[in-house]
Amino acid sequence: PYETFRRLRAETPVAWIPEPPVGNWPSGPGYWAVFRHADVKHVLRSPGDFSSHLGATQIRDPDTPEDLESVRAMMLNQDPPDHSRLRRIVAAAFTPRAIRALEATIEERARALIASALRQGEVDFVEVAADLPVWTLAHIMGVPDSDRRLLYDWASRVIGYQDDEYAGLSTADLDSLSPMAREAATQRPESFQHPDGRPVNPRSRAALADMFAYAHALAAAKTRDPGDDVMSRMLAGGLTRDEFEQMFFLFAVAGNETLRNGIPGGLLTLLQHPAAFERLRDDPSLLPSAIEEMLRFWPPVMDFRRTATRDVQLGDQHITRGQKVVVYHASANRDETVFPHPDHFDITRTPNDHVSFGFGPHFCLGAHLARTQMRAVFSELLPLTIKQTGEADRLASNFQNGLKHLPVSLT
Ligand code: HEM
Repeated sequence: PYETFRRLRAETPVAWIPEPPVGNWPSGPGYWAVFRHADVKHVLRSPGDFSSHLGATQIRDPDTPEDLESVRAMMLNQDPPDHSRLRRIVAAAFTPRAIRALEATIEERARALIASALRQGEVDFVEVAADLPVWTLAHIMGVPDSDRRLLYDWASRVIGYQDDEYAGLSTADLDSLSPMAREAATQRPESFQHPDGRPVNPRSRAALADMFAYAHALAAAKTRDPGDDVMSRMLAGGLTRDEFEQMFFLFAVAGNETLRNGIPGGLLTLLQHPAAFERLRDDPSLLPSAIEEMLRFWPPVMDFRRTATRDVQLGDQHITRGQKVVVYHASANRDETVFPHPDHFDITRTPNDHVSFGFGPHFCLGAHLARTQMRAVFSELLPLTIKQTGEADRLASNFQNGLKHLPVSLT
């Protein structure tokens, strides 16, 4: 889409986009799309004019007013001051200091994953990469390791609503789950207990119900036996029931889907730029700037939405109160007024003011954690010879810049 984004930045940097019906969804009211870096940052830093709460943060409106009400309880979909209150409850677990304390554990896990992939020789790198974020997330949340694939399944089913294959990428085997997860499963047998272990109902609604049943079972266990984990912080933080469920949902998706796409997306970008890959092998001290460039070039999240709280001017467009405003991180990251030669993949690019982690009050809480995981994986990959052995298969989504499969050989 980058050529289209370039043209839009030049011709209609704030453009009205109609929302025709897609599949079985009805048409939407349409939205303003924002393509330039400066405008994207302006929208993201101005929650007073562009709210995350009024209509939540996805292009598509929630199905029902009740769904909107629930999802608005999520930290991601709040404005100050509720947003700040919720963020304070969990922020301490994600500071650079807290993440540094986890670094050696993450590196060890990444080493084991890549060593196992190397023994197999030919792998689907998306599968390999997916395990690290989900394992790390389980560790931080206080989710038993045996249940971590549930996080992966739920996220696939919620994010994969536009892509049948993705939504069906279930890998959790009921027998391997903790007793707590099995107990939660009995509350929703129709979606957990399929003869082949797959969820019966592949769509997000059922995934959410499963996830919340599990979250409450875990909460009961943590109330009896609190730990130094995010779940225990959430329980001590005085959240409402909706805020609690939605926070669990937010972490399950945000800490998992993004890197599961970002790590393979970064590798694919390196494979498509062999000279840059060689240079990085020769000088691994470039890894931090290379990772920023991978994130600029392959933003795991392509857009987020806000809603205008009042009539407001943006660029040369007049936006009316209540209209949707969608910022395109993927376009902002290629803005020629900020990034010289924006379509050139330059692993030494400094400064690199990409917006892949967002900007303003909702700036990604997991950014340090994400960078640490990417560094851990790519440090292990650099000494290897890696060849792409088949098509990189993309996820059908207008939100997540996703890969479903990336077959590679490792030697
Ligand atoms: C928010 C991207 C990894 C947790 C965000 C936002 C973006 C983003 C763009 C801003 C949303 C908005 O403006 O409405 C990414 C990318 C990642 C990544 C590209 C990986 C490369 C993670 C990880 C976690 C995480 C590993 C950790 C568990 C969150 C949370 C928020 C958030 C909790 C909400 C913050 C708030 O509302 O204040 N992320 N993320 N993310 N991210 Fe990430």
